[in-house]
Amino acid sequence: MKCFLSNQWDYVDDFSEEYLKELPETKKIIDIPHTIKLCDDNYIDEKSYQKIVTYHKTFNINEDLQTHKVFLHFDGFMVKARIVLNNHELGTFVSGFFPVNININKYAKNENNELFVILDSSEDKNIPPFGFAVDYLTFGGIYRDVSLIIKPNIYIKNVFVNADHKGTINIKTICSNSQNPTFRIYDEDKLILETDKETINIPNPHLWSLEDPHLYALEVLLDSKYGQDNEIVKFGFKSAKFEKDGFYLNDKKIKLVGLNRHQSYPYAGYAMPKSMQEYDAEKLKEIGVNIVRTSHYSQSEYFLNRCDEIGLLVLTEVPGWQFVSRDEVWRNNYYDFIKKMVLKERNRTSLVAYGVRIDESIDDDELYKKGNQICHENDPYRQTTGVRNFKNSHLLEDFYSYNDFSCSSLKHGLDKASTVKTKGKGYLVTEYLGHMFPTKSFDNQERRQEHFLRHAKVLEDIYEHKNLAGGIGWCFADYNTHKDFGSGDHICYHGVLDIFRNKKYASAIYEAQNESKPFLTICSNMAPGDKSAALLGITYAASNCDSIKLYINDEYVNEFFPNRKDYPNTPHPLFEIDDYLGNRIKEKGFSDKDKKNLVDMCKFIIRNGYSNIKFSFIKDAASLMMKHHLKIMDLVNIYTKYINSWGQEASTFKFEGIKNKEVVITKTISAQLEGQLSAISSKQTLHEEESYDVAKIDISMLDKFGNICVYSSEAINVETSGPLEIYGPHLVSLKGGATSIFVKTKHELGE
Ligand code: GAL
Repeated sequence: MKCFLSNQWDYVDDFSEEYLKELPETKKIIDIPHTIKLCDDNYIDEKSYQKIVTYHKTFNINEDLQTHKVFLHFDGFMVKARIVLNNHELGTFVSGFFPVNININKYAKNENNELFVILDSSEDKNIPPFGFAVDYLTFGGIYRDVSLIIKPNIYIKNVFVNADHKGTINIKTICSNSQNPTFRIYDEDKLILETDKETINIPNPHLWSLEDPHLYALEVLLDSKYGQDNEIVKFGFKSAKFEKDGFYLNDKKIKLVGLNRHQSYPYAGYAMPKSMQEYDAEKLKEIGVNIVRTSHYSQSEYFLNRCDEIGLLVLTEVPGWQFVSRDEVWRNNYYDFIKKMVLKERNRTSLVAYGVRIDESIDDDELYKKGNQICHENDPYRQTTGVRNFKNSHLLEDFYSYNDFSCSSLKHGLDKASTVKTKGKGYLVTEYLGHMFPTKSFDNQERRQEHFLRHAKVLEDIYEHKNLAGGIGWCFADYNTHKDFGSGDHICYHGVLDIFRNKKYASAIYEAQNESKPFLTICSNMAPGDKSAALLGITYAASNCDSIKLYINDEYVNEFFPNRKDYPNTPHPLFEIDDYLGNRIKEKGFSDKDKKNLVDMCKFIIRNGYSNIKFSFIKDAASLMMKHHLKIMDLVNIYTKYINSWGQEASTFKFEGIKNKEVVITKTISAQLEGQLSAISSKQTLHEEESYDVAKIDISMLDKFGNICVYSSEAINVETSGPLEIYGPHLVSLKGGATSIFVKTKHELGE
């Protein structure tokens, strides 16, 4: 039985021994998950949440303490806590990113248990990832759920199940006595097998895959005179292997395309409940990636569960960032974290490998040999890897992972796999781009377009390198960081989404690879004045359509196809729309050849600018002018008439995405405004289960065609009615034309 202790804790923003006797008047009532400080969305002072604070909770236990074991279970707090129950010191426990489970029978009673958690969220140099600099913030607080786990005196301590694509299930359980448990296997709700054997074979299992993440359930039952204990673990039949020629899922080679995720959110830091953790997993799936790396630590159960359910592969990683200490306490914490990571995550079907090396650290054979060994001992089925940022490092893991930041221009995506010494083992690129091209959702259009193009280039290289298992980009969403990193406001603008998870252009190239629904994003606001030299230039689009037809003011212009010449390996390469005249030229007396010359001239200017015009075009222009008695200004007027629409109604650009000869999606862009605020909630019904619930409300300024007015920075004052409160500031401003606010339930029913 699991009873959540989520609501109504006392909280004091500091600590004094006196508080153990009586809490001061400054105490507040809070709920878990809790953040020590509700921060701004940027310019966060990393010292502001690093302090010692006091949590207090009174609780009852509705079970016989003679016949039951009671565990106080923390899913995660940052970073260590002294825990006192009914005036008895239980000890000091390190969590960070891992659960802490304490048997409290010795000091517990049925009623009015007094629990104090004296939490120290300061960065402790003896605990990874700390010791030196870290490019992310580890917000303070009891930021994951707290519960009481109550079991009969004889109970199941641990269950480990692994099922492969051939139908073999291996189960390992540890029970508090030597008794053997019974196993039941369910497919959906149907019981398909009951046995006490630890190795089982299921003929023709329904495999777990990215498209059909089918899960079974294992129920473990243990009977004793104290009653029955049971544990339910969901699992899927799947095999995953990094080989020297790529990655295999259920024996089928697939290309891994992924993003790195940090678990922080604006305002609340790490303290977000189940719904928001699931939201991120769903967002990643929506963007169309097939793997996420939990950089650089073990993430929420809710996030990982959702990955299992929706078919999103996971590469998990031990907490750290570049730094390795010689200090014994630090190293023991590292070993302990490896074990905790494996025990926490080995039942995840979506998990394909463990990152056992501290991200981007130096070689340390002693540390990493032992780290690998602990990992393999606790999970013999999955491979290990270690993420490095320099070539030729010692390879102690099962496959090679490398952060390839060689993309310094649009011409170069990734290093050729052969330049990295992978010693004949599998090879995965675990990061790219990130700090090489930080891009804000409110940056100018050219930068946002280049961000998109760089991602498109790396993606092409990922597909081109046939033996490369895949690439995981840096990163999913912008994140708050320490003063040493980021754009001066302590944010790394490295995401393909902004910090609120609103999409930048770059996310579109990933989403275009997703086949599940028609997709079309035009990476432009079609405003020439937003570009250097007021030149509209190429309009880039990301789409999974076969072609895009462009209409300007309802007149058909041209049909465009994906650029397979420069991106021959990407399943759905980007589109380059470089003709805004096409069939629209109506000038009297112009022959088809004249029109074609004019279109070619314009295309050339669109691609190369006015100043680079080629001699052959000057010749063509001159003969056109002579033939039709035109002056240079007349030619310019034709150009501005069709392309810049000066002096006329603003042009309306309609893009039709065509698939199998049918229009499946349409996007319209124009300078016409009628801007209006839009608010879309991540969910309509909020539901308290483990803890309070949160919905994310995306607010944006939209033009009349539903496009975000990117340069709107409107101020918005938010109020709630009913049993909701705002989780963050009440007064916000749009950034890049959009922002999000978070609302949270407060334990009452209502609308
Ligand atoms: C990498 C590092 C990431 C992040 C990224 C920024 O070196 O592993 O955590 O800092 O750079 O691009």
